[in-house]
Amino acid sequence: MKMVSSLLLLHLAASPTLALPSTSAPRQNTFQHPGIFVSQAQLDSTKAHLAAKANPWRAAYSALDDLPWTKPSWGPSPVATVRCEDPGTPEHDQEQGCEEERLDALAAYSLALRWAYTGNDTYAAKAITIIDAWSGTLKEHVSSSAPEQPGLQSGWAASTWTRAAEILRYTDANWDTGSITRFSGILRDVYLPLVRDGSADNPNNIDSAMLEAAQNIAVFLEDRTLYDAVMERAKLHIASYIYLKSDGSFPKIPEWTTKYLTEARVRALWQSDGSFFDGRTMETCRDLEHASYGLASISHMFETARIQGEDLYTTGLGSKLQTALEMHAQYAAGGPVSSEVCGGQLKYELLPVAEPGYAQFVGRLGRSMPKTKAFVEGSRPAKPNYLFTAWETLTHAS
Ligand SMILES: *[C@@H]1O[C@H](CO)[C@@H](O)[C@H](O)[C@H]1NC(C)=O
Repeated sequence: MKMVSSLLLLHLAASPTLALPSTSAPRQNTFQHPGIFVSQAQLDSTKAHLAAKANPWRAAYSALDDLPWTKPSWGPSPVATVRCEDPGTPEHDQEQGCEEERLDALAAYSLALRWAYTGNDTYAAKAITIIDAWSGTLKEHVSSSAPEQPGLQSGWAASTWTRAAEILRYTDANWDTGSITRFSGILRDVYLPLVRDGSADNPNNIDSAMLEAAQNIAVFLEDRTLYDAVMERAKLHIASYIYLKSDGSFPKIPEWTTKYLTEARVRALWQSDGSFFDGRTMETCRDLEHASYGLASISHMFETARIQGEDLYTTGLGSKLQTALEMHAQYAAGGPVSSEVCGGQLKYELLPVAEPGYAQFVGRLGRSMPKTKAFVEGSRPAKPNYLFTAWETLTHAS
């Protein structure tokens, strides 16, 4: 930080007429670290709440103890070829390393958080062991039954791996340089090619997960060009994934796809249900669980962008996220709803994905989200989803 500000001063001194940009938030030239979903300030804040034995953080930390994969006794199960198959096919029996990879990534993240909050290096050492075991083994992701699976799996796993790795790398956890380089290598060579452009023909939660991973990888690799390209693409994704009446009578067409360029195709993508209402996502009328995945990844991208100096919460995309969270919170339990909403029936339930958005829109910006408040407080501590989301009351409650 010191070096950056003195460089900036030098630059200003050399160009006396240079005015600071006033039109938008200042754009940092360097990346903030730790800067993937959880900042140092957020780690410190939770740590202070835990020291004061305050809830909901205390109960959220205790919930870690209920699961074996948050403990130093957890051992990694790396494979060279991760194979994820469609559950409805015979190939499903031949899955390999698929759940294991996601769970090991969640284990590394849980242990990294424990380390950050307690300073106990037993946790850091185990998190590092798990990451190193995978980066020393993993070569590829494949599927013979579901072409989108390798990218989706990479999206989920790399989103979580990078969250863990970012904390370990920037908190004096004793992660050696060679291992960091090797981990950076699998991010660039194994994961990034499958996620960097998002999904061409699944502009739903699959796209959200891939773009979250790509954004995180850009931060970890400190690749500004990649970061900017991913954010540009992510904004198109978010704009078309969440509908507001201010979009017009029809959701935004996902222009980067090949399959969804006409209104008829987009209508089919939105479950052929013409009831476009404020805050509806592309997947709300499919079921609340898939909508939760999309909203979770989008919330994660908002947080990482905020830490990296871009406040999306106060933009039009922020209005979309806020409206979507409040609308979904109202119907969190699913089941029968008013007939204008998805024909009067919502499948499954909303997962506890609203902590980060609630902390920012309400805690920081002082907006009112009564339904989200009730949902967030009623679902604490937020449970992990076993794919890519975990411990968000612990990390983000405000
Ligand atoms: C660190 O954590 C380990 C594993 O939970 C525990 O056995 C050990 O007593 C802890 N060390 C300290 C200093 O608290």
